[in-house]
Amino acid sequence: MTDLPQQRARHVAIIMDGNGRWAKRHHLPRAMGHQKGVEAVRRLVRALESTGLECLTLYAFSSENWKRPEEEIRDLMGLMRRFIKSDLPEFVENGVRLKIIGDYTALDADIVEMLEDALARTAGGGRTLAVALNYGSQQEIARAAAEAAAGGEVTTETIAAHLDTADLPPLDLLIRTSGEHRLSNFLLWQSAYAEFWFTEELWPDFTPEHLSQALDDFARRERRYGGR
Ligand code: FPP
Repeated sequence: MTDLPQQRARHVAIIMDGNGRWAKRHHLPRAMGHQKGVEAVRRLVRALESTGLECLTLYAFSSENWKRPEEEIRDLMGLMRRFIKSDLPEFVENGVRLKIIGDYTALDADIVEMLEDALARTAGGGRTLAVALNYGSQQEIARAAAEAAAGGEVTTETIAAHLDTADLPPLDLLIRTSGEHRLSNFLLWQSAYAEFWFTEELWPDFTPEHLSQALDDFARRERRYGGR
């Protein structure tokens, strides 16, 4: 066996897909799929320390998700409220820094308030959980480019400096569950040189072991960044 240099991922992002299909498969209401999806999030956050990752970014609500039925949006927002309330003390205790990407200020005022409290209380954490809320990558790039232009020069560096992810390590690996192979307006700029890992598992069934498999696979990949 050849000894390829092993590389360790610093930043992984996940498109958490398949909650609805999970519910259907188990003859349960859609909301239950999302609820089980939150449990999968909780398992991963608890395992964050053991992964060695500096940052895990999760696509929780896209700018296009507003097109879903009102009832489903209400369910998702309710889950968000409950998740922050129940898990924030654990974040603080375990040194998990919460970060939000996307325009979260468009969410209900009480959620905005809860999020801002959570951001302040976890600011000292060593590992980052970045949650994408009301996030759209094209909108993010357009805004960053406009801000870069207002500041003077438009270059790849000045645009990157205005992205929501400016303070995060470069994206190493992007995972999507449920057998879909799309980016869905997620981290388009940031994934320019990211590796991709797809799994048929539906999001509620995703475990830290699956993340471990993805990280092992990543460790063996040869990254070229356009060179050779
Ligand atoms: C995709 O499943 C999932 C979403 C649109 C929402 C993801 C949200 C969560 C896992 C819960 C909230 C997260 C946090 C951090 C509290 P889908 O409904 O598109 O599934 P389908 O394609 O099978 O219908």
